[in-house]
Amino acid sequence: SGSATYLKQILSYPLGASVNPRLLEENASYRALASSEFTSLTAENHMKMALIHPEANRFDFSKGDEILAFAKNNKSRVHGHTLVWHNQTATWMKEFQGDQQAWENLLKNHIQTIVKHYQGQIAGWDVVNEAFLDDGSLRPSLWANHIPDYLAKSFIWAHEADPKALLFYNDYGQDGKPKKMEAILNMVQDFKKRQIPIHGLGLQMHISIQSKNEEIKKVIEQSTATGLSIHLSEVDVAVNPKNNPDFVLDSIVQKAQSDKFQLLFTSFANIPASQQYGITFWNVGDKDSWLRGYFKRPKEYPLLFDEAYQRKGAYGELIEEI
Ligand code: XIL
Repeated sequence: SGSATYLKQILSYPLGASVNPRLLEENASYRALASSEFTSLTAENHMKMALIHPEANRFDFSKGDEILAFAKNNKSRVHGHTLVWHNQTATWMKEFQGDQQAWENLLKNHIQTIVKHYQGQIAGWDVVNEAFLDDGSLRPSLWANHIPDYLAKSFIWAHEADPKALLFYNDYGQDGKPKKMEAILNMVQDFKKRQIPIHGLGLQMHISIQSKNEEIKKVIEQSTATGLSIHLSEVDVAVNPKNNPDFVLDSIVQKAQSDKFQLLFTSFANIPASQQYGITFWNVGDKDSWLRGYFKRPKEYPLLFDEAYQRKGAYGELIEEI
C-alpha cells in the first residue's frame, strides 16, 4: 500500500468527512480536499432539527441539498445526520405544547418528511443521536420526556419512510464507559427481539491522544459482535484536550496522534467487510474543527489535514502502516 497516492485508494470502504456548506462555497482548498480525498460526506450541522426544520410548517432543505449536489458531482456517498437529538432542536419544538399524541405526530412528521425528501439519495441515517448518558440511563430530552419508547418509534417511522435506507444509532464516548456501551447493546438486543429495524451503530470517536487503545478496540469489537454495520462516524483525535495556551504541536504529539489514527483504521480493518460502513472525520482541516469553534480551543489540531489544508505526516503514515 506504500505506493498509493490517496488514502481512499487503499480502503475498501468509504472514507468520509463532515462538511460545512459555507466553506464548500467560499474556500477552494477546502472544496478541493472534500472532493478529492473523501468518498462519503456528512452535513456537520445542516440536517439537524434546528436548521432543517426551523418552523413547525417549514422545512429548509437548501443547505442539505447543496451538500447532496456536491457529493453527487464527486460520486460521493451522503450519510444523514441526524433525525432525532436532544441538542440543536428548533425553538418552536422547545416551545411546543401538546399531549403524547401531538408529540408523536410532531416527531413522526419531522422524521418522515426529511427521510422522504432524501429517499434514494442518502445511504444511511443517524436516526437517533446520543440517547444514553454515561451511566447507561436514558438521557432526558424533549423526545424522551414526551414520547414513551421514542427510540424504537423513531426507527420504525424512518424505516416506513425509506425502507432501503440504513438506520444507525449514533453515540459518543463508549470507550471507557461500560454502562453506556451496555445500554446501547441492550437496545440493539431489545430491537432485534421486537423486530424494530436497525442496521448500524455509529461510534463518533471524538477521542484524544490520551484515550486508551484497549478501550477503543473493545467497544469496536463489542459493536461489531451485534452483526450490525459499523460507522466510525465523527473521528477527531484531540492533542490539547486541556486547552493549554502554551501548547506546541511537536513531533512527540504528532506521533501520538498518528498512532491513534492508525489504531482506528487497523481496528476497523478487523471488522468483517460486510459490516464496514466507513470512517468519517469530523470536518476537513484543523482550522475547521468544532473543537476550536464550539469548545474554544484555538490550539487544537485534531484532524488529518493541517490549517493550510496540507496532509499531515499522519496521512502518509496511515498509507504505509494500515
Ligand atoms: C457539532 C458541530 O460540529 C458544531 O458545529 C455544532 O456547533 C455542535 O455540533 N456530536 C454530534 C455532532 O453528533 O452533531 C456534533 O457536531 C459534535 C458532537
